[in-house]
Amino acid sequence: MSKLFNVYPLYDIEPVRARGSYLWDVNGTQYIDLYGGHAVISVGHSHPHYVEMLTKQLSDISFYSNSVRIRLQEELAEKLSELSGYPDYQLFLCNSGAEANENALKLASFHNKRTRVVSFTKSFHGRTAGAVAVTDNAAIVAPVNYKEHVQFLPFNDVAAAETGITDQVCAVIVEGIQGVGGIQVATDAFLQTLRRRCDQTGAVLILDSVQCGYGRSGRFFSHQFSGIHPDLMTMAKGMGNGFPVGGVMISPKFEASYGLLGTTFGGNHLACAAAIAVLDIMKNEDLIRNAETMGHYLMEGITRVGGHKELRGRGLMIGIEYDFAVETLRHQLLFDHKMFTGVAGKNTIRLLPSLALQKPEADAFLAALRGCLQRG
Ligand SMILES: Cc1ncc(COP(=O)(O)O)c(C=O)c1O
Repeated sequence: MSKLFNVYPLYDIEPVRARGSYLWDVNGTQYIDLYGGHAVISVGHSHPHYVEMLTKQLSDISFYSNSVRIRLQEELAEKLSELSGYPDYQLFLCNSGAEANENALKLASFHNKRTRVVSFTKSFHGRTAGAVAVTDNAAIVAPVNYKEHVQFLPFNDVAAAETGITDQVCAVIVEGIQGVGGIQVATDAFLQTLRRRCDQTGAVLILDSVQCGYGRSGRFFSHQFSGIHPDLMTMAKGMGNGFPVGGVMISPKFEASYGLLGTTFGGNHLACAAAIAVLDIMKNEDLIRNAETMGHYLMEGITRVGGHKELRGRGLMIGIEYDFAVETLRHQLLFDHKMFTGVAGKNTIRLLPSLALQKPEADAFLAALRGCLQRG
């Protein structure tokens, strides 16, 4: 019996090496990675600049607590605000997406002293107490995860948002593109309504950008398509390209005070080096634009292949919904064509490749998809 607590169904594949959009298993078999380890690999596996920055940092200093000055945090905050287009926002660093959402919810509640939170159907915000309470999946919410303060409104329903966001509401938390929920893109009208209702009621608008942020959509944040400015944006996944880093970008209207938030590991030297390397690579290699270009390329190709019920997404966050369960199709892609893909629900294939994906890998996927669908 395994000593591991058995919570993950596993593929019998053991990757031991990775580079760019490729993985190699213990037998030397090569795989194309269209899943990015669940949207985490943003700039490509083991990018030389990333490896160099982390290696150097490890040999200099890897950790000290937040009781001393860590210049790397300042550099990260500077570069992040520049690339994201939020020059006046502040940064709080932590270690994961759930933790970022916990801190955002706390900040909102400290700010307006309220407790009620509005979230949306099919949302996923993480597994820690506060984050899971605002997640719309009863199966992963334990009795101890108090959630009487949470109301779930229908996603993308403007009328429900108009009436459901009242001056009792502390925070509204929403994904710009729902990931686990099946790559559902929030409409501009919906996000604009949330922004307006939060302004009118004093509620805090939190954009959970853990999966759809960091360039994946073809903008730094997917909500930037709609022109709104949230109060808080949460991030993780692509931020460290595999090194655990999370963060909250915080509007200048929130005032910090000593002890308001805190963390042992958040913002450590290694995490900052990883996150700075990611931003450098994203900028130098124009990866946000590549995500947009390759997203269009894949969407057009998938449309030509056909056979799906609905194709959704933006940039390199793509959902292909079929009118059948996709388990067999994903197995064929993985075991016959050596390609990792993701899934949402039973019928939707989720593509979350590195933002550095190139045409040969996209073409290989399209050819494999066509082959699998023709074979049935
Ligand atoms: C939108 C969203 N928010 C939060 C999380 C939680 O992130 P983490 O697993 O890093 O805690 C996820 C993870 O899949 C996510 O997709």
